[in-house]
Amino acid sequence: MIYLNGEILPTEKTQLHVSDLGLLRGYGIFDFFRAIDGQPVFIEDHLDRFHNSANLMGLPIPESRDKLREIIHEIIRLNPYKLLGVKMIMTGGYSEDGYTPSPKSNLIVMGKPFEFKPADIGLKLMSMEYRREIPEIKTLNYIVPIRALQQMKSVGADDILYHKDGKISESSRSNIFIVKNEKIITPLDGALFGVTRKHILSFAKNHFEVEERDVSVQEYFGADEVFTTGSTKRIIAITNTDNQMFSGGAVGIITKKLQELLLEEETK
Ligand SMILES: Cc1ncc(COP(=O)(O)O)c(C=O)c1O
Repeated sequence: MIYLNGEILPTEKTQLHVSDLGLLRGYGIFDFFRAIDGQPVFIEDHLDRFHNSANLMGLPIPESRDKLREIIHEIIRLNPYKLLGVKMIMTGGYSEDGYTPSPKSNLIVMGKPFEFKPADIGLKLMSMEYRREIPEIKTLNYIVPIRALQQMKSVGADDILYHKDGKISESSRSNIFIVKNEKIITPLDGALFGVTRKHILSFAKNHFEVEERDVSVQEYFGADEVFTTGSTKRIIAITNTDNQMFSGGAVGIITKKLQELLLEEETK
């Protein structure tokens, strides 16, 4: 069951008109989070970010925050999976001239069963010179990483590391952290303010030294451990980038500790 513009409908009955500005011009935002055993994880942070993305994009949200929360809970109730991925999507609506946004955004809330990758795997990244256009907004635009899927496949990479002007920013759908001499460091500029990133920063400082600042490409490749974070991944080690190995190809000790702490934080 999917919420679309005021109605909750069976998936096969949900349709958008071809004049939707998300489709025609890629003008839209979204947010994604998980519900575990019917309980949404970090829902208020995701509502905050959805509102922030909407404001920065100039898109009016057709429902109040309370009503949106109610819709989310209803979608979770109607999709009773143990692990559900919930997506809120909002576009510039049906545009008369195919360019100007409608005063009425199109709003969708949908839920799909979801699975995590095991926490003990290590990912291989491929670096790419790129920085998202408006990194603080969770836009619908993932053209660059989707276009690079073939290239990633040809070099056996699981994902991409973005860098620009000698500084790293994030991966295609997740944030990046490095560990050096037991200090945890994550880029401040050019990255989405990930909800997982926010929680890690807040609890990690009770155990380690933590810094939010520019991270050079050189510093990245000199790191003791590297890991990536996001609602779809939690914390996953990066054990290789451009064929350089990190932490001996295994999940690092500090990465492992943070994985345990994040699980505790989710159930608080
Ligand atoms: C570009 C980008 N950076 C970072 C993240 C991680 O954010 P979060 O932890 O809120 O899932 C995501 C995923 O939503 C993303 O798309």
